[in-house]
Amino acid sequence: MIEARIQKHPILSEDKTPESTHFTFNSQMIKAKPGEMISSALFAHGIHIFGHHAKDNSPQGMFCANGQCSQCLVIANGIPVKSCITPVEEGMEVRSMDGLSALLKDDNVVKKGGETPVVDTQVLIIGGGPAGMSAAIELGKMGIHCIICDDKQELGGKLSLQTHNFFGSIRDCFAGTRGMDIGDDLASHTENDKNLDIWLNSPVVGVFSDGFVGVIKNGIYTFVKPERVLITAGAREKTLAFPGCDLPGVYGAGAFQTLVNRDLIKPTDKLFIVGGGNVGLIGAYHALQAEIDVIGIVEALPECGGYKVHLDKIKRLGIPIYTSHTVLRAEGCDHLKRVIICKIDNKFKPIKGTEQIFEADTLLIAVGLTPVDELKKQAEMFGLKTYAAGDADVIAEASAAMFSGRITARQMLIDMGYDVEIPPEWQEMVDILRSKPGQIKKTFSFPKDKDVYPVIRCVQEIPCNPCTEACVLQSIKIKESSMMGRPQFEGDCLGCCRCVSICPGLAITLVDKGYDKTKKNARVIIPWELPDGTIKLGQKVTTTGMEGEIIGTGNVIAIKESDWQDRRRLVSLEVPYNDVDLVAGIRIIKPQEKKIGLKTVKTPLDEEVVICRCERVNKKEIVEYIKKTGTRDINAVKAALRVGMGPCGGKTCTELVMRIFRELGIDIKDVEPPVDRPFTQEVPLKAFLKEEET
Ligand code: FES
Repeated sequence: MIEARIQKHPILSEDKTPESTHFTFNSQMIKAKPGEMISSALFAHGIHIFGHHAKDNSPQGMFCANGQCSQCLVIANGIPVKSCITPVEEGMEVRSMDGLSALLKDDNVVKKGGETPVVDTQVLIIGGGPAGMSAAIELGKMGIHCIICDDKQELGGKLSLQTHNFFGSIRDCFAGTRGMDIGDDLASHTENDKNLDIWLNSPVVGVFSDGFVGVIKNGIYTFVKPERVLITAGAREKTLAFPGCDLPGVYGAGAFQTLVNRDLIKPTDKLFIVGGGNVGLIGAYHALQAEIDVIGIVEALPECGGYKVHLDKIKRLGIPIYTSHTVLRAEGCDHLKRVIICKIDNKFKPIKGTEQIFEADTLLIAVGLTPVDELKKQAEMFGLKTYAAGDADVIAEASAAMFSGRITARQMLIDMGYDVEIPPEWQEMVDILRSKPGQIKKTFSFPKDKDVYPVIRCVQEIPCNPCTEACVLQSIKIKESSMMGRPQFEGDCLGCCRCVSICPGLAITLVDKGYDKTKKNARVIIPWELPDGTIKLGQKVTTTGMEGEIIGTGNVIAIKESDWQDRRRLVSLEVPYNDVDLVAGIRIIKPQEKKIGLKTVKTPLDEEVVICRCERVNKKEIVEYIKKTGTRDINAVKAALRVGMGPCGGKTCTELVMRIFRELGIDIKDVEPPVDRPFTQEVPLKAFLKEEET
C-alpha cells in the first residue's frame, strides 16, 4: 500500500504521532493517526476513489475537503458521512458509497424524538476563523458572553493551512508571521477567556423565524437563542465546468492545502493548477515545499491577478505560467491522467490548434472564493440583529478579516450601548488590506557607491511594509503616504539580512560586492524556504532574475538559518560580478516535455460537462431546459432536473447554473436565485433523538 505522508517539510514539523487507530475500508485494514479525517487517512494510503455514484456509476473522490460539497461521502459504521470532516475511530467499518445507501437492518439507534436543548447567549459567532476569533477576543474583553460555533475540530479556519508569512504591517496585523502561527496565537487568546464558550465539531444548520438558531453540537441538535448573531463563516471555493471536471484528482486548492499543510499528506506527484490569483500561486509554492512537481498554471486573463511577488517567486523557481489559456478538458478513466489546455481569444473562446497536453494526476481549481453567507441571509430575513465580518462579508486577505472582526465587534458593543469607539485607523487599515494589487513600476536603482545593499524587487503597490519596520538603520522607506507604496533603499546597510529574512514576498536579496577583492565574482544572499536537499552546498545552480529569466550560473557557498525569521534559510551564491544585481533566485524545475496539437484531442462536448455533481446533471440538459421553457428561475430548473437538490444543497453548482444563464445571453438580474431554507446542510436524523431511548 502506498504511504503518502510528508516526512520532510521546510516549514512544518514532521507529525510523529503513530498510526495507532485501525479501521477498515471495504474490508481492507487501514491504519490512521488518532483523530484524523477518514478522507485524509485514505489519501495517506493512496486511496483517492471513495465510491461510485448511484446514477451513472461515476467514480467519486474528494473535492473541497471542507464539508461543503458532499463528494466524499462514505458509509461509516452504517451511516453516510462526509469523510473529509469525519474523524476515524478505532474499529470503524468504512465502505464505499456505491449506489444508494440502504437503511440499517438493525436500526435500533433511537425510537423517539427528544426535547431540543436551548442555550441563551449574548452573541453567537458562526465560524472560528480569523474574523470570528478576533471579534470574540474583542467582545470577551468587555465581558460579553459569546458562543463560537465551528464545524471543525479546532479553531483557526483557513489560518491553520497558511504556512506562508503574512503581508500588511508588523505592528498592526502580524505581518511577517506565518498564518498558522497567527491562528495558534488567536486560538489561545480565545480559549483562555471565560466569557467565550467554544463549540467545536458543531455546524450551524439553520436560522428560524422565532430567532432560534439550530446547531448540531457534537452530534446533538441544539437551539441557541442569541441576542445578536455574527457571521464569520468564511468563504467557499468557486469551481469551473469543463469536461472531466468531476474526475477524482480534480479538486479545490483549499482541499490541497488542507491535505498538505494541515494533515501532512502528499496527495500527488504531478500537479497542474487553474487560476493565477493568490490562492493558485500560493498553492503552487506550497506544492513545491511538499516536493510535488508543479507542471504549470493556467490563467484565463492576460495577466495573473495575484500579487506579483507571489508570481515572481514561483516563476524564478521555474513553474511555467500559461496566461490567456484555459483548461479544455481533464482526461482519465477513473482518475485524472492528463490535462489539456489551450489558448483563448479575447472573448475567452478556445483557439483551435493551440492545444497542449500534460500528464498530471491532480488538477487544482483556484478560481476564486465566494462568501458563505446563507445563514446571514436567513438571519436578516427573520429580523435577527445580524452582523458579518471576514470573508463572509467581503472576500479579502486573512489580515483584513482579523481587522474586520475587531471592527464589527466594536460596532456590536456600540449597538449594545457600551462606551467604546472604532478607531478611525482600524477602518483605514481594513480598507488598505482589502485593496487589490495596484500599479507595477519595474524601476530599480542600484547604489553605485556601496558594496553591500539590498535589492528590493517589490515593484507593485500592495499593502505591506515589514521591510521598513525591520531595517535597523531605517534605510528602507516607503515615500508615499500609504503602506501601498513601494519600499526603497536609501542610506546605509549593515548587511544584517533582516529585510531579506522578513519580506513575506521573498522579494529582497542582499548584494555583497566586496566579497571578492578581484571583482571577478560577488556574493548575493537570497531567501529560501524549500526542503533541505533541494539545493546543496557546493552545487552549481542556474540563477534567475526577478521574473524567472535565466541570468547564468552560481555556486552555493553557504546555507544558513536566518536569525530573524524562523524556518527561513539564507542561501549565499557566488556569482559573476556583473550578474550580482540581477540575480533574484534559483531555477529548480526543468520544463516538462509537452506535445502540441495532438490529434487525439477531442472537441469538448457539452453533455460531458457535469454541473450538479451530487445529482449528476450535465450542462446540455440545463441548456436545453432553459431554451425550451424560457425560464428565468433557478428554482424551476431545480424542480425539473434536480440540480442543486443533492446533499450539498446547491453550494457547488448554483453559481455554475447562473453562468449558463449568462452564456445564453440572459441578464443575471432577471434570474430568480434559489431559495435558501434551513437546513443549510445535511443533519443526521439521530441528532434530533434521545440516545437514552435506544
Ligand atoms: S470533499 Fe468532503 S464535503 Fe467536499
